[in-house]
Amino acid sequence: MDYNFDEIIDRRNSDCLKYGVLQERWGRTDLLPLWVADMDFRTPDFIIQALRQRLEHEVLGYAAAHPQWRSAIVQWLQKQQNWSVREEELTFIPGIVRGIAFVLQAFTQPGDKVLVMNPVYHPFFLVSEHNGRQVVHHSLQLEGETSANRQYVIDFDQLDKDLEGVKVFLLSNPHNPGGRVWTADELRRIAQLADKHDTLVVSDEIHADLTFAPYRHTPYATVSELARLHSITFGAPSKAFNVPGIVSSYSIVPNDQLRRRFNAYLAASELDEGNLFAQLVTVVAYTRGADWLRQVKAYISSNIDYVEQFFANELPAIVPIRPQASFLVYLDCRGLGLTHSQLLDLFIDKAHLALDDGRKFGSAGEGFMRLNVATPRSVLQQALRQLKDAVNND
Ligand SMILES: Cc1ncc(COP(=O)(O)O)c(C=O)c1O
Repeated sequence: MDYNFDEIIDRRNSDCLKYGVLQERWGRTDLLPLWVADMDFRTPDFIIQALRQRLEHEVLGYAAAHPQWRSAIVQWLQKQQNWSVREEELTFIPGIVRGIAFVLQAFTQPGDKVLVMNPVYHPFFLVSEHNGRQVVHHSLQLEGETSANRQYVIDFDQLDKDLEGVKVFLLSNPHNPGGRVWTADELRRIAQLADKHDTLVVSDEIHADLTFAPYRHTPYATVSELARLHSITFGAPSKAFNVPGIVSSYSIVPNDQLRRRFNAYLAASELDEGNLFAQLVTVVAYTRGADWLRQVKAYISSNIDYVEQFFANELPAIVPIRPQASFLVYLDCRGLGLTHSQLLDLFIDKAHLALDDGRKFGSAGEGFMRLNVATPRSVLQQALRQLKDAVNND
């Protein structure tokens, strides 16, 4: 079946975050929103059908674990990522950001150091701060001049210094923002340093299934025995299959000792139980979703091509960083020569767009904006026209 990702679906008045908080966060509602990391595309038909079918049984009582939940995840990881996971290594968690908080609470004390690689998905440091942990910001280095080769890299000597005394390293694998797919070699070097500093690594792999060829996702836990033994990996079908509103994620902890401690923490508050829909959605996505995923990735990739060409031809002062994974394009807007508040004024009040402000991802985000391209091409075209007109009239 061929899916139609060009279809425009009106998401206003559907209680979605993307439109629902425009007034509260941007101060106006007349904005085209291309921010939060979900898709404007219809959630796959086979997932909707499975949910409908379950609703037809009109008793929504307490749910038992789905019998195929473990095997569906194990088989998906084996096929998609060439990663052999044992069923007992898996535990349900109600969201990955929450999972990060649970790790901090289960394995660290207030005041302990947590390392993030800045710029980074903001809940990494916000959750750490809100739990009273001390955040160490390791600065990623931006290399390369063009959209195709401008990418974040790690300064490993500096990382070695920054990891001194760090209890937990929060790794976004692939990285958000910027979309870097860390190589096996980079991950191996992280593992060596984490081992040297006795640091627990949390590898958040929520964007992994959206990795574009020729890049290949490497699960952190597979790069070495050290990595396998000192890591907790989080995964979910939420980004790849546009089901984040269902809240269904999982942890993978190969080390028996770490797993017992983490699972005991979760079980104490019954945090490891899903709801009627959560596990069902994961099973359906992972057993029936390969073809949809291939098609949505091709569409997103062509949207990224479009964005790249648009900026190169029409607005060269802005350089998009081409993501190696996922649908978030980090725009380097420093060439516009604006202060950060002038940049926000340009995007919001002049272009009438709601993107993610780069500064949300840490101090390194000054002069950057994050554009979500998981939207029909015509919407993207409209947004970029608005931006170009605003720059020309500025
Ligand atoms: C790197 C990363 N981790 C986690 C999340 C959110 O995960 P959850 O909704 O399961 O808390 C996102 C969403 O954008 C993300 O980009």
